[in-house]
Amino acid sequence: MTLARKATLIIEGQEPVEFPIFTPVHGNDCIDIRKLGGKTGLFTYDLGFMSTASCSSKITFIDGDKGELLYRGYPIEQLAEQCEFLDVAYLLKHGELPDTEQKNAFVNIVKTHTMINEQMVHFYQGFRRDAPPMAVMIGVVGALSAFYHEAEDFSDETHRNISFNRIVAKLPTIVAMAYKYSIGEPFMYPRNDLSYTANFMHMMFGTPCERYEPNPVLVHALDTIFTLHADHEQNASASTVRLAGSSRANPYACISAAIGCLWGPAHGGANEACLKMLEEIGDVSRVPEYIKRAKDKNDPFRLVGFGHRVYKNFDPRARLMQKICADVLQELGLEDDRLFKLARELERIALEDDYFISRKLYPNVDFYSGIVQKALGIPVSMFTCIFALARTVGWMVQWEEMIMDPDLKIGRPRQLYIGVPRRDVPQIVAC
Ligand code: CMC
Repeated sequence: MTLARKATLIIEGQEPVEFPIFTPVHGNDCIDIRKLGGKTGLFTYDLGFMSTASCSSKITFIDGDKGELLYRGYPIEQLAEQCEFLDVAYLLKHGELPDTEQKNAFVNIVKTHTMINEQMVHFYQGFRRDAPPMAVMIGVVGALSAFYHEAEDFSDETHRNISFNRIVAKLPTIVAMAYKYSIGEPFMYPRNDLSYTANFMHMMFGTPCERYEPNPVLVHALDTIFTLHADHEQNASASTVRLAGSSRANPYACISAAIGCLWGPAHGGANEACLKMLEEIGDVSRVPEYIKRAKDKNDPFRLVGFGHRVYKNFDPRARLMQKICADVLQELGLEDDRLFKLARELERIALEDDYFISRKLYPNVDFYSGIVQKALGIPVSMFTCIFALARTVGWMVQWEEMIMDPDLKIGRPRQLYIGVPRRDVPQIVAC
């Protein structure tokens, strides 16, 4: 980060004020307005953080115009093709890809921490069977802070590493247990002879009655899906982690808050909403009707899986997801899948339509992810949990970067108050 220029702010009736401009490694220059309030008595108003960098970060970079996503400088396409999810998790955490020795040690530590405290089973039993699995996850992940609080000196790197390794190891178990509970099947204990992702599939789809044999093509597909979702810089849920963590809250509680944020249909809940939308459209012949609705200002309907705050060109994850989708459907002999064909047609028509072209609305990662997950046998209600499983890596890394920032301040935005002006309580109202 360099300081090359200055910005001068001219406010009517006041002396001009100068602010430094930071030039980052990649991306837009940023005016440092931290002293604006003190110098001018004014605040900035930026609903939805449209023009605000909320922090400095070394983890992930997105160039929305180019459609580029980098984890620690590496393009997502190369990582998706050449690395496993645990390599990517190590990279995000430590800044570099692991060598063989580092990878073996990391894989070993993750594999040997996959079980959760047996008492946590009682938490699941307290939920109704029809509880949304995301609601269960918010509860169970938050409850980790009640079970694992012996390593809470976060100025100590060892403690931070313990929290990271623990949550990365346990999330697949927690997600799979949420699923098994919802369908009334016994929880499956983890198997250390399997890879991270194969073990997750075993815990999801295996039963005690027979040995589960994961299909390597499907394992590879799901592992790549995890990689694509591992981090995405300062989105709503990562910002939630940072805001919650800025009070020095326990990281598991912060992750639980992020899961809550991810759940919404404008964020991680979009993959579920997208599949429901495709089911509702049902047939290629009805695509024009839905495109018309998406364009109608008086209709709240939006084409789910389209548009992104940052990507104003193709979401690179969507391209990779489309390829994974085709591979999985081919492996399963489902090349003629009705929803896949419908999605391709919807994409084709939308990308030729002036409404979508002029607003730079392209398919995002969630457009194809629901179809792949459905083909993998994952029920719709679990889609966002899969996203949360993978994104936990990014959340933990964002949390650690924030907590170690020497300039850390508790997040405390100001507001533009537009309520009733100061007034006195009338005498007749008895309190
Ligand atoms: N269908 C129809 N119109 C849309 C859509 C859409 N999916 N997305 C945006 N627009 C229109 C919107 O109506 C507005 O039009 P106008 O300028 O005429 O008022 C314009 O495009 C800009 O939209 P915006 O809501 O101001 O854009 P945003 O950056 O605030 O919202 C978004 C981004 C992702 C919330 C939005 O595109 C959306 O709701 N998409 C559908 C939900 C979705 O797929 N979400 C997953 C996001 S990717 C996964 C993740 O990161 O969590």
